[in-house]
Amino acid sequence: MDNPFYITGTIPEAYFCDRERETEWLLRTLRNKAHILLTSPRRMGKTQLIRHIYAQADIKDHYYTFYTDIFPTTSLHEMVLLLSKEIYRVLVSREKSALDHFLAALHSLSGSFGYDPATGRPSFDVKLGDIHSPELTLEEIFSYLENAGKPCIFAIDEFQQISQYPEKNVEALLRTYIQQCNNCIFIYAGSNRHILENMFQSAAKPFYNSAEQMFLGPIPRESYTDFTLRVFKENGMEISLEAAQWAYDTFEGHTYFVHNLLHHCFSRAETGKMLQPEDVRLVLEDILEEKSHSYASIMNLLNYQQKEVLIAIAKEGNASKVTSVAFVKTHALTSPSSVQYATSALLDKQLITYENIGRSKTYSITDRFFREWINLTY
Ligand SMILES: Nc1ncnc2c1ncn2[C@@H]1O[C@H](COP(=O)(O)OP(=O)(O)OP(=O)(O)O)[C@@H](O)[C@H]1O
Ligand SMILES: [Mg+2]
Repeated sequence: MDNPFYITGTIPEAYFCDRERETEWLLRTLRNKAHILLTSPRRMGKTQLIRHIYAQADIKDHYYTFYTDIFPTTSLHEMVLLLSKEIYRVLVSREKSALDHFLAALHSLSGSFGYDPATGRPSFDVKLGDIHSPELTLEEIFSYLENAGKPCIFAIDEFQQISQYPEKNVEALLRTYIQQCNNCIFIYAGSNRHILENMFQSAAKPFYNSAEQMFLGPIPRESYTDFTLRVFKENGMEISLEAAQWAYDTFEGHTYFVHNLLHHCFSRAETGKMLQPEDVRLVLEDILEEKSHSYASIMNLLNYQQKEVLIAIAKEGNASKVTSVAFVKTHALTSPSSVQYATSALLDKQLITYENIGRSKTYSITDRFFREWINLTY
């Protein structure tokens, strides 16, 4: 039997938890043909939510839906390659005419993909070096989307990457094409909220005010625990409400971590024995034990100041005013300026993240398992 708490791949609809309000809002916004900016902390559930939207009958039956994660890309070349590859992937499983339509639109890449002359089977063999003019290929992609025969939705995940490309004016270029395209709605997603909000909220930027915004937070506690109890029961196992709440509260509802813990709880559940908070705590300890070696290696790569600050933030959970005298004193740190240095190094390594709360930044450990491990170890 598959574990019903999915921690990788696509989640079957029956095991997708809640997000009802968000789903309703997204469907309504798509119906109104507005582009969407979807942000959240890492691992809160953006990608799964987009997949869930795509699985709704309203969307599945009426649109071509595309999804590309551009996190690995560092140039327009690569982005253009990934976008074309995704369109190919979606169309190749559809009727032949749909793919033919796309092949015909992409003149600049003809030769690198199409039908294999020997087998007649479609193949996509475009290499980065085949894209001589990414601007031209991009134009062709948009001309395809405009005439795709069906309305399209294109989700581009980790969209903030485009602001790092070395080519000039990528934002302006893309914005112009998107503005001219009436047949495709875009979902821009990402976890780097600050870069993304800057792209969409400052008047000088090409994407200013061009999308409806949704910030995705945790699933509400009651909804998540109801789901947990139901999924255990439907699969012949039992967990107490307190145990489900313990899992939720330990990670403040942060989806991936709660789900991962429940996944392991489920795989260890025995018929006829109801899991209690203590059982869940033991499962968490095992998970941390397993990760212990890699967490220790991360610690080894940090200098003393960075370690100190990382531990202080882990102890606080959500740490604000980290360069204040009070924070430095409470955690016996060296000085506000050394905290400043260490914080910026830890941010660069993505070991910590921050939220702007009011005028000050509140820091937390990105990987919540790591935070638990630090708190157990130090
Ligand atoms: N609605 C949900 N129901 C059940 N599990 C979920 C749900 N949303 C997220 N998860 C769990 O959390 C994990 C992370 O979700 P997802 O990959 O969508 O997050 P993300 O915000 O896209 O993360 P990243 O920032 O790393 O791209 C999923 O693999 C799944 O285990
Ligand atoms: Mg994602």
